[in-house]
Amino acid sequence: MEKNGLEEELNKINKEPYKGVRDFYPEDMFVQNYIFDVMRKIVESFGYTEYSASILEPTSLYKAKSGQEIVNEQTYTFTDRGGREVTLRPEMTPTLARMVAKRKRDLVFPLRWYSIPNMFRYERPQKGRLREHWQLNVDIFGVKSIDADVEIISLAYILMKKFGAKDNDFEIRVNSRKILNSIFRNFLNLDEEEVKNLMKLIDRKEKIGKDDFEAELSIILGEKSDAFIKILKIKNILDFSSVLPKELVESEGVKDIQILINKLRDMGIKNVIFSPGLVRGFDYYTSTVFEIYDTNPNNNRAMFGGGRYDDLLDIFGEDKIPAIGFGMGDVTIRDFLETHKLLPNHKAKVCLYICTLTDEYISHANKIAIKLRENDLNVEVDLTSKKVSDQLSLANKKGIPFVVCVGENEVKTGKYKIKNMDTGEEKEIKFDQISNFISSIKTL
Ligand code: HAM
Repeated sequence: MEKNGLEEELNKINKEPYKGVRDFYPEDMFVQNYIFDVMRKIVESFGYTEYSASILEPTSLYKAKSGQEIVNEQTYTFTDRGGREVTLRPEMTPTLARMVAKRKRDLVFPLRWYSIPNMFRYERPQKGRLREHWQLNVDIFGVKSIDADVEIISLAYILMKKFGAKDNDFEIRVNSRKILNSIFRNFLNLDEEEVKNLMKLIDRKEKIGKDDFEAELSIILGEKSDAFIKILKIKNILDFSSVLPKELVESEGVKDIQILINKLRDMGIKNVIFSPGLVRGFDYYTSTVFEIYDTNPNNNRAMFGGGRYDDLLDIFGEDKIPAIGFGMGDVTIRDFLETHKLLPNHKAKVCLYICTLTDEYISHANKIAIKLRENDLNVEVDLTSKKVSDQLSLANKKGIPFVVCVGENEVKTGKYKIKNMDTGEEKEIKFDQISNFISSIKTL
């Protein structure tokens, strides 16, 4: 009776994963690993080395400079058994800054580091936005000049190209917190509270739609809201002079962004757009901010977001170190690859399937499989004892390119008929030639 009760209870457990997180079945892992492999290859080609950290952090780490929305509304925070407030990391930048601050005296600068951590944000799950995602983080510490901004953005560009994107599939939007600050303070004459409200409003612009945005804007800016809407529409930094006074047009922030865009264009990176409405939600950014957007209207989301955060080490009571980097999410890049038909075709990792005429040959199959694996071949042995034709069709379904069958003849002679599943061709070869035979065909 009790057992039945328990069984009933167990039957009720939902098979769905927790809301907003994903299960990764092998076909999903194949895509995920492909994405991570491309990321690793490109960042390492630029000299970045990998680091990692625990997903748990003291909540105080985020309170200092991550930004109100993310800390108050989006974190998974709990109190541990020792009464400490703990947060599942919603982003990697504060952890990275903490690690750099801790070993600052021993580390060699400029420091180029990357990581591909998972992170949690309590958001409303929707296309491109989940509660758990993985994010490539690429950051450089110790370079003050705009050349670090150029390196980081060009790396992001090369990454997109390596994924198979064409220039018109995506755009790189850049802005500077310095430009925004001088517009807010010197042109719109806003106080601190008004600046905060305006930044929040701009960040929500896409979410709330044009009419609500303009209505809320006129509450904050009054008669200056028309001029600000004009500013937001500018796509070329040279057009700034038509709306802003000379001293703002000639400010450091504007000059830096002009140099940045020119340097990127010089390198052949032409899909860079000045975007004065780009604010980014984190409080720690100090100048350049950028995002990479899919230009396809079906996937209108930022795939990367990043910027310069020269003051973040302040929060640990350490001297500042200039830093710039970005985060690129796995969910959005997967959507991008799907939208642009750039997903890789599934390829089996096993290259040889060993069938057996009857189950008494399984031991022999295991013996030869062990020897072949020593030669770095991935080999799978059939354990179903089904008809050989069924074993072959299983190998076919799994996409395994070569098959051998083991029976009395093979055990006696040490020779095997190896079947190429793509062409249907069969060739009889000696056991010690199998590895070379497969390698030679695989590299053709
Ligand atoms: P972020 O803009 O919050 O920046 O995130 C970077 C990227 O992560 C986004 O462009 C998006 O692709 C992805 N992402 C963020 N939230 C989600 C979500 N809920 N679901 C799926 N994907 C998401 C940062 O996190 C900064 N810490 C990046 C950085 C590194 N800045 C400097 N260095």
